[in-house]
Amino acid sequence: MNILIIGSGGREHAMAWKIKQSPLLNQLFIAPGNAGTSFIGTNLQVSVSDFQGLKNAVLDNQIDLIVVGPEVPLCEGLHDYFSSDDQLKNILFVGPHKLGAQLEGSKDFAKEFMMRHHIPTAKYLAVTSGNLNSGIDFLKTLNAPYVLKADGLAAGKGVLIINDLQEAEDSLKDMLNGQFGAASSKVVIEEFLSGTECSVFAITDGKDYRILPVAKDYKRIGEGDTGLNTGGMGAITPVPFADETFMRKVEDRIIRPTVQGLIKDQIPYNGFIFFGLISCGGEPMVIEYNVRMGDPETEAVMLRIKSDFVDLLIGAAEGTLAEKSIEIDPRTAVAVMLVSGGYPGPYLQGKVISGLEQVKTSMVFHAGTTQKGGDICTDGGRVLAISSYGETIKQALELSYENAGFVHFEGMYFRKDLGFDL
Ligand code: AMP
Ligand code: GLY
Repeated sequence: MNILIIGSGGREHAMAWKIKQSPLLNQLFIAPGNAGTSFIGTNLQVSVSDFQGLKNAVLDNQIDLIVVGPEVPLCEGLHDYFSSDDQLKNILFVGPHKLGAQLEGSKDFAKEFMMRHHIPTAKYLAVTSGNLNSGIDFLKTLNAPYVLKADGLAAGKGVLIINDLQEAEDSLKDMLNGQFGAASSKVVIEEFLSGTECSVFAITDGKDYRILPVAKDYKRIGEGDTGLNTGGMGAITPVPFADETFMRKVEDRIIRPTVQGLIKDQIPYNGFIFFGLISCGGEPMVIEYNVRMGDPETEAVMLRIKSDFVDLLIGAAEGTLAEKSIEIDPRTAVAVMLVSGGYPGPYLQGKVISGLEQVKTSMVFHAGTTQKGGDICTDGGRVLAISSYGETIKQALELSYENAGFVHFEGMYFRKDLGFDL
């Protein structure tokens, strides 16, 4: 079959690499893709939010299956657009409709869903300018630090964690007054949960689900988890503390109730669910849902899926996941992100990347790259993921660090302490 991946990051390159190995694949397309995806498929110059452009691309290239990487087109209703078009409605589609995508698109929707289905999560209150005083009263019932979340999508920047009560009240008002635009016209105030985080992924057809390898990502720019938040500086899978006992609790208390909840609420859902979890003394709680795979987790997770990924995608899209199985590689896999100098602040751009041909024992997934003439150049804050297998976390990381040493671009930075906490 002909497959189209929508997106342009390391996640999409890693998916492309895995899909490319499937005997079910005929031609692979990526819209818009990056320099890395252009080596294994055909990049189509269409943006992820250009529905008409995507429709044309799908029809021109006789696409049979679409898999959506990022959340934005899903929250904008790309699946709904396909379902309601006579020429497109029979094309297999992996990614939820707009309604299901609200699990990520609205923190309040996600919290109400979890409450309704008794899924463990932090106590919360949703606040708008209409009930600001209740919000302030609720803050006073909590202990510091205070967690304030913009309800809508805010490119990963909409969560504030504040130590001082007065400051939290002020921030609440700022958010409601448009600090994150329309995304923070509603704010979710949450109890702070303390523990260790991990990312659990499932793929579902809305009835059955399969659990993908569990991972941990490293969000802060600095070593020892210090400094500003980034899109993710690296990932490790599996996660030692997410052992069989923990994962059984996750499945029983979180994954199954979530899929059952979607059924009860009559929310059709074909796609990935990303459970952002925190282990509070061994008890899993949900920090957030995402309606897509994680980035950079995917750049490690894809290495551990041994079975045919396309077969799983077909199962999720067609509603035949009950017939599909997933086989997981027992080895460890890691992804180390190489980022641009200055990132996550204003960063250097358009720098020539050299040494990629010397990387032989790791996979290189492109995140923010572009081709200029004969050169591959940086084209984003997060530039490349160097992904490796190992028998241990240490071994896999050493291999990624060794191969990162061959790669060069001006201002290149990466964290050398991934896994320090595991
Ligand atoms: P989110 O965008 O919901 O994933 O939040 C971003 C980050 O904020 C999470 O990865 C956590 O590290 C942190 N966070 C969010 N909610 C809480 C909470 N209730 N307690 C503690 N940390 C939180
Ligand atoms: N790695 C976290 C995310 O993709 O949101």
